[in-house]
Amino acid sequence: MARKIVVTSGKGGVGKTTVCCNLAVQLARKGRRTLVCDFDFGLNNADVVLGMEGLASYDLIDAVEGKCRARQALVKHPRYPALYLLPSNRIPAEHVSAQAVKLILELLSPQFDFLLIDCPAGIGEGVHRALACAEEALLVTTAAIPAMRDADRLNGILQSYRLPASLVVNRIRREMSRKGDPLTPQEIARTLRLPLFAAVYEDEKLSEGTRERSRAFRTLSDAILAEGKQERKGIFQTWGRP
Ligand SMILES: Nc1ncnc2c1ncn2[C@@H]1O[C@H](COP(=O)(O)OP(=O)(O)O)[C@@H](O)[C@H]1O
Ligand SMILES: [Mg+2]
Repeated sequence: MARKIVVTSGKGGVGKTTVCCNLAVQLARKGRRTLVCDFDFGLNNADVVLGMEGLASYDLIDAVEGKCRARQALVKHPRYPALYLLPSNRIPAEHVSAQAVKLILELLSPQFDFLLIDCPAGIGEGVHRALACAEEALLVTTAAIPAMRDADRLNGILQSYRLPASLVVNRIRREMSRKGDPLTPQEIARTLRLPLFAAVYEDEKLSEGTRERSRAFRTLSDAILAEGKQERKGIFQTWGRP
């Protein structure tokens, strides 16, 4: 059965989809069968970030509604044989229940090593749908105060789901760290009372999609593979160069 990891944040635009897709690429490059599940119904963009736009015939909602079998909704990545996408679409789909999507993921789980769930922003129904399907969480924030506040709120919700969570601090600016800005990744982790799992620097190449040679995400995938599901410790990794 696959490890089911939700990538979540509270605030939008902090890098959930970026982290989810880049981590997926690195896991797939290491031969792990990896499925990116786009749970951001209505504002889906994992297909774009993965360079898979326009390749889907069906999507997750079709599978839920019985218009196709769960397997038929999967799209294979053209470049990485171990990487698949379970796309969603532009329809907000409030009517889709957590139980229904959970069932689809359960059907697909035996064929994969990792299911990475790209969570929508906010604390609404769509977030609960994503959390209900996961067994572990990566909570993404930036050093900005609104992002940290939302991450804190989300962390409370993660606890109510009993999801072990680790922190990814994204878009760190080199100058800020050097000057000893109070919002270092370690201090953010302390404030949020979460183990710091990864720190990802601002990297303009990431805004073009996934970046195969990203050292940050290679190291993050190594860390995910090194730890056992039950004993997430949280390690701090920082990278000299993105
Ligand atoms: N480390 C980073 N360096 C540079 N740009 C980034 C980084 N992380 C994310 N971005 C950019 O920030 C924007 C929002 O990221 P995205 O992953 O879509 O956020 P979310 O899924 O949380 O809404 C995108 O344009 C993305 O390319
Ligand atoms: Mg997103």
